[in-house]
Amino acid sequence: MSFDVSGSDYDRFMGPYARELAPAFADFAGVSEGRVLDVGCGSGILTEELARRVGEENVAAVDPSPMLETCRARVPGADVRTAAAEDLPWPDGTLDAALAQLVLHFLDDPQVGLAEMGRVVRPGGVVAASSWNFPRMPLLRTFWELARELVPTAPGETQYFETLEELEAPARDAGLDEIETAPLDVTRRYESFAELWSTFELGVGPAGEFYGSLPPESRSAIRDGYRERLGDPEGAVEVPGQAWAVRGRVPT
Ligand SMILES: C[S@@+](CC[C@H](N)C(=O)[O-])C[C@H]1O[C@@H](n2cnc3c(N)ncnc32)[C@H](O)[C@@H]1O
Repeated sequence: MSFDVSGSDYDRFMGPYARELAPAFADFAGVSEGRVLDVGCGSGILTEELARRVGEENVAAVDPSPMLETCRARVPGADVRTAAAEDLPWPDGTLDAALAQLVLHFLDDPQVGLAEMGRVVRPGGVVAASSWNFPRMPLLRTFWELARELVPTAPGETQYFETLEELEAPARDAGLDEIETAPLDVTRRYESFAELWSTFELGVGPAGEFYGSLPPESRSAIRDGYRERLGDPEGAVEVPGQAWAVRGRVPT
């Protein structure tokens, strides 16, 4: 899978975005107390934010990837388990909230994951998810635009959500009540284009995995095109990103 990587490599590729997103997303979900689950926790960036709010002993986290070890080290007092969003190892209604940050677009059926999150949360508790607004996530969008232009074998579609409706509909279909949505903005500063590009070379996520599968001439073509689209920057580069967040309550 494209997250068969170390937590430290993930942190270099996506960490600063996830770290800025985490408190805004936890605020949006209204997390300030209770027992909270981080679904698809990866290296534990959101897990750590949740622990700051409710205490490590009140945080649970799951992920199917090896990044989980970094999450365990980051939040040693949390209940961290290897599992998938679609089959969570907790009984019905035993948590106060379940959050999934940058995960839903990797599920075969987001509705199934959200319904399972709703199953383990008590009636009246919160289920929330955030995912990139792909048209406004240039780090990834530019990569895939160039990949499609330059590499005939590039996948025709990304897994990412292209519209807010694509994120909101599965929450509704999963049976959640009081559904709300919000855009959440983040920005990452790279000291140079070389720093930015080195993060694609780590093989993280679908973009890094696809990039790593290409012959050197295709990699160079994508890198050079990417640099040109950024305006051939000489110094630091700032790349903004926007996530959409959706939250709902388990019916009482
Ligand atoms: C972009 S990372 C996000 C990690 C973390 N939530 C964060 O915000 O940094 C996507 C995560 O989704 C996880 N994932 C993929 N498929 C999953 C599934 N079926 N159930 C739970 N997590 C999954 C991956 O292993 C990876 O850790």
